[in-house]
Amino acid sequence: MTTPVRVRAKISALGTYVPPKLLTNADLEKMVDTSNDWILARVGIHERHIVEKGVATSDLAVEAAKKALAQRGLAASDIDAIIVGTVTPDMFFPSTACLVQHKLGAQGVWGFDLSAACSAFIFAVNTGAQFIASGTHKRVLVIGADVMSSIIDYTDRATCVIFGDGAGAVILEPAEDDSVGLIDFINEIDGSGGCFLQMPGGGSLNPSTRETVDKKMHYVHQDGQQVFKFAVRKQTEACLKLLERNGLTGADIDAFIPHQANLRIINATAERLGLRPESVIVNIERYGNTTAGTIPLAMNTAIEDGKLKKGSLVLMASVGAGFTVGATLLRWAF
Ligand code: UT7
Repeated sequence: MTTPVRVRAKISALGTYVPPKLLTNADLEKMVDTSNDWILARVGIHERHIVEKGVATSDLAVEAAKKALAQRGLAASDIDAIIVGTVTPDMFFPSTACLVQHKLGAQGVWGFDLSAACSAFIFAVNTGAQFIASGTHKRVLVIGADVMSSIIDYTDRATCVIFGDGAGAVILEPAEDDSVGLIDFINEIDGSGGCFLQMPGGGSLNPSTRETVDKKMHYVHQDGQQVFKFAVRKQTEACLKLLERNGLTGADIDAFIPHQANLRIINATAERLGLRPESVIVNIERYGNTTAGTIPLAMNTAIEDGKLKKGSLVLMASVGAGFTVGATLLRWAF
């Protein structure tokens, strides 16, 4: 019996998109009992982008995907599969992947949505990489996109200051050799934390009724402190395990690209991992928490800041509702 050939997947292109409309801390000060100082000190956000009415997750996803395809000089029909990580699909069904496929005009592909909240982009990259590794697919379009403003209660100061809308897309292709591409990952889910961050209404347990709407069950509900503690502990744990089993330390990382949920979570994780401060990629001040969009948006910031080059050693990390935990080690390919 021969050992199957495992092909390493690489990220060959990146595209991102945020809607033009800004929601600043000054705007929020007029909407709820909050302050610019509190938001900056406790979360690290200055402004976030939100959609106009009628713009959905698939619209953001398509804009990001078009940029990624253009960067690589590919047509939509060159793609084999589309994976959309999102917690705010346009609707329950059809999947956002189907809507994106149609809007892109990507003929003959298949695809699906992946639900892992803030870890969705990492989970989707690691999933797509398996299709490349098995040799069954040559080009997988992986998108992380969320319109969080569609499920936020803008009278609840505990959640409305945190989130924004945004999307990012990458193309996964086989790496020519082991000098670039995905090296290793650790993903984990822990449903015991489900109650700490959830949207309880609208599903099969609590189908939408006037009562569920009156009780605001169609909005994000979060116990921030519980999520914060879990995020720091598990993100650190997953990253340390990943570094250790690959014979690396935090100081070896060129770009740490974490989910952007709270600047204090990022700093606490970075300190525990022993990362070089200049390797930590942060853009939460501009976008807030865009859920599945944060990591590709942060990749784009890293490129703009000259911190991602061919061969750079990258560590991505996330914790999200579920709980979901993701950490991925890779070498940047372009
Ligand atoms: O991406 C998915 C994963 N999500 C996360 O990772 C989120 C993790 N959690 C967090 O980032 C933080 O817990 C929050 C940003 C959500 C909250 O920050 P915190 O420092 O944990 O605040 P807290 O909930 O402990 O509240 C501290 C105080 C409270 O007032 P008292 O009781 O001390 O008088 C809150 O009522 O801050 C108050 N507060 C606010 N004040 C002004 C809560 N929200 C606000 C606000 N503006 N927006």
